[in-house]
Amino acid sequence: MQTQTEQSSNLGLAGLEWSDQLVTGNERMDHTHEEFVTMLNALLITPPTEQLNLYRAFLTHTVEHFTQEERWMLATGFTAENCHAGQHASILETMRAVETHYVQGDGEIITRLAEALAEWFPQHAASMDAGLAQHLQSVAFDTETETLADPSVIRSMTMSGCGSISCS
Ligand SMILES: [Fe+2]
Ligand SMILES: [Fe+2]
Repeated sequence: MQTQTEQSSNLGLAGLEWSDQLVTGNERMDHTHEEFVTMLNALLITPPTEQLNLYRAFLTHTVEHFTQEERWMLATGFTAENCHAGQHASILETMRAVETHYVQGDGEIITRLAEALAEWFPQHAASMDAGLAQHLQSVAFDTETETLADPSVIRSMTMSGCGSISCS
């Protein structure tokens, strides 16, 4: 049996590689997620003393990423305080606190957070985001135009959970 040559990665152990496991099936969501992964990996190979501008851009991108998903949730029957949006809010709260601590002198904290996000993201994408993508497809919501084919399909829905995905 031939031994396959392992491709070396300059990201080290902490980086996140784009793979089928991260695909949710919604093209626009997946495109945003690829950008998220690219920026996260860039942070991990940037020396700690040079991370601030990139980190701020990553935070801005993440705000937009989460806002986009929450806009789609609201348009398709989720309540504003559903658990997926709650998880986004706690991540953003942590990210903002990390910026403050970094500026106050904890030079390693952005790297530690990026490593934690690299662990968090695959399970979030595979559960809550994939569940949302599935829900959007089931109600025929077009994420390019952000419109419903038939608005009456969601009129009776009020969801505080994560669609078909459990919050626990
Ligand atoms: Fe996402
Ligand atoms: Fe999400």
